[in-house]
Amino acid sequence: MKHGAMFITFEGIDGSGKSTQARLLANALRTEGYDVVLTREPGGSPGAEEIRSLVLEGDPDRWSAETEILLFTAARRDHLERTILPALAMGKVVVCDRFADSTRMYQGLSRGDLRDVVDQLHALMIGREPDLTLLIDMDPALGLTRAKSRQTSEERFEDFGQALQEQMRAGFLALADEFANRFRIVDGGRSPDAVAQDVTRIALEHMA
Ligand code: ADP
Ligand code: TYD
Repeated sequence: MKHGAMFITFEGIDGSGKSTQARLLANALRTEGYDVVLTREPGGSPGAEEIRSLVLEGDPDRWSAETEILLFTAARRDHLERTILPALAMGKVVVCDRFADSTRMYQGLSRGDLRDVVDQLHALMIGREPDLTLLIDMDPALGLTRAKSRQTSEERFEDFGQALQEQMRAGFLALADEFANRFRIVDGGRSPDAVAQDVTRIALEHMA
């Protein structure tokens, strides 16, 4: 088994193919001999999965923007303590579908200008960035069609529609600029295999 403690995250708008690509990358890295933990946010530990249903189900106005930041950060703290950090300590690769960049975008940008609050809470309670972040970038219209084709009760955010998704896409691209050292942008508007080829190549380059 190869050792290579590395924390890789996927970011992008709803329906861009993050979970598909996270799964394909985990498989590709396992084939290469790495010990991989595939996880997601919100969630990734029993406590954080409970918080996931609180934030993703129910009325869109269920929580204020500030309360939502606290809930996502609480979930992340539990996920970090119980899943991510222990796996990295054992030399595993952690592949995670969304992380703090999603809070910077969804809570920090889409519901008012709360980016400072998000960053302060992150510094206080999380204090850890991924080693590599793959931004799956694509046309929001396509992402929304894909996301809507899934049957799920988790639709508080998808309900915001295409205008928000456009804003999110631009926001994620700006974030990739801000954290250029760890972000890589991948064109998600292609077949899953074509996207996965790029993703795997970039990840393996980083592991080397
Ligand atoms: P995300 O996690 O970013 O919301 P998913 O991986 O769940 O995206 O993909 C959303 C939907 O689109 C799923 O039904 C999935 O099977 C499909 N899908 C994923 N990647 C592609 C792709 N490259 N081309 C076409 N459909 C895709
Ligand atoms: P996810 O299950 O990744 O949804 P999708 O597969 O549609 O991309 O995430 C669920 C929703 O949670 C998504 O709309 C984005 C939102 N979210 C936040 O608002 N803040 C966060 O910090 C995270 C991690 C997710």
